[in-house]
Amino acid sequence: MADLKESASGIDGAYGLKSKRTDAFDLSGSNLPCRFEGEVGDMIVCGDIPIEIDGTFYRVMVDPFVPPDPGNVPLDGDGSISAFRFHDGRVDMKMRYIETERYRLERKARKALFGLYRNPFTHHPCVRGAIDSTANTNLIYWAGYLLALKEVALPYAVDPDTLSTIKYDPFESQVRSKTFTAHPKVDPFTNELVVFGYEATGLASLDVATYTLNSNGKKVEEEWLKSPWSSFIHDCALTVNWLVLVMWPFEASLDRMQTGGHHWAWNYSRPAAFIVVPRRKRTKRPSNWAADEKCRVYQWRNCMPLHTAGAWEVEEDDGDIRICVESSRVLDNAFPFFPSDDGRTPSADAKSDFVRWELDLSAPSGSSISDPQVILDLPCEFPRIDERFLTKQYNIVFLDVNIPKTKPNGQTIFQNLNGLAMHSHRSGATTFFYAGENCSVQEPVFIPRNKDAPEGDGWVLAMIERKVINRCDIVVIDTAQFDKPVAVVQLPFHVKAQVHGNWVDSVRREGSEARSLVHEPEEMPISGRGVLGPMI
Ligand SMILES: [Fe+2]
Repeated sequence: MADLKESASGIDGAYGLKSKRTDAFDLSGSNLPCRFEGEVGDMIVCGDIPIEIDGTFYRVMVDPFVPPDPGNVPLDGDGSISAFRFHDGRVDMKMRYIETERYRLERKARKALFGLYRNPFTHHPCVRGAIDSTANTNLIYWAGYLLALKEVALPYAVDPDTLSTIKYDPFESQVRSKTFTAHPKVDPFTNELVVFGYEATGLASLDVATYTLNSNGKKVEEEWLKSPWSSFIHDCALTVNWLVLVMWPFEASLDRMQTGGHHWAWNYSRPAAFIVVPRRKRTKRPSNWAADEKCRVYQWRNCMPLHTAGAWEVEEDDGDIRICVESSRVLDNAFPFFPSDDGRTPSADAKSDFVRWELDLSAPSGSSISDPQVILDLPCEFPRIDERFLTKQYNIVFLDVNIPKTKPNGQTIFQNLNGLAMHSHRSGATTFFYAGENCSVQEPVFIPRNKDAPEGDGWVLAMIERKVINRCDIVVIDTAQFDKPVAVVQLPFHVKAQVHGNWVDSVRREGSEARSLVHEPEEMPISGRGVLGPMI
């Protein structure tokens, strides 16, 4: 007879039986597959959700439906949306996969047909003509669509209420780029979406397209330029007149891909760099720019400026322009699954922090820039601001951090984020929210208290993963008292780590009547057939 204690307490509850299903790795180390689609009406809430919070928190996670190619990396895997609609102090939830071409092909086949991230030479020959985007990186509401984004391809348009996948390429190739960033930026003052795509004409190409879409999704600006090397250009920053593309020191190689290797390898001889691009044809350039100069590139040492908080420009008395960009930074390769071609992997204790870079646009292209100013000297990621101030100088930044003097949970920055910080540039003060031991915090979003509220006055939402009880919650934190939530929205299960998420206020849905996220039974008259009713 099997040992009673052992069989009852098996860690996987499977009595020693094994699944053919492999783990589904993600960057935060949250490796359990989720694969849930469905809805939860009127979720359990501890505390009180302010009724002024009215809108939807959309987040996307990497959750491969079929067991992925065992050599693939945590960046790949089907995108699954979780949406949380806040209204009148209550929350409804819905989860659904983005039905990309790749998802549909693999789901029908019931097995992985696609190989390594962004390497079609490792895909099954019958699907090499298919779009291999998993649409798993970010969700942006624009021109009536929820855009499910991955930088390897163009957007998928998703219905913001049913979460059904409507179509690929909703902007219908107004720009003939094959790619579209997962981090387009909304200019809140002009109501424009500023977009770029790199490797825009094909694998490992140097072509970069930048363009602007108006609120109806119509292209109003377009430019093409060359990247100095085929670099991983994941995020960008926007000022009133300039777009700053952030280059990581990875390098794509067609030879490596054709011999079955990864798209990317970290290159220790490359710098981190910033491509500055005028946003408009009419943007005033510094006086020493040539008439036909499309961009300039500024570089620092080998490091990884992960995500930007924001950027602003300063015009000097002599007419020169300086751009300040703030970002999280890791002083090594933060993606150890893409080592260098000679096999070097990053140090597990690579330093990370939050910094301000300064770019002098009158300096020649290719110049090295000064060391950035360290704003927060602690491990951190996913900086966000009050996005009503995007393009302008801001005071408040919110970000995930490893709370000082707490234990790290893992070896990468993404696994060690157990709290949130709110930092004021003006006062220099930083306040923290600590999620608790063995908890991790995912990217925050900010909601202003009302449309005229001062910068940073409102609430922050963030998903918390509680590793010990294998469950997740959303915390609602009032920025007036940042150390403790006013409400916790309890999920009934564990969801995988978010890549990115955004808040879409109900005001932004005006003109497109929002339907309930969840099934709502219709009202009906009392039947009179209860036990106290007359016998029929
Ligand atoms: Fe990102």
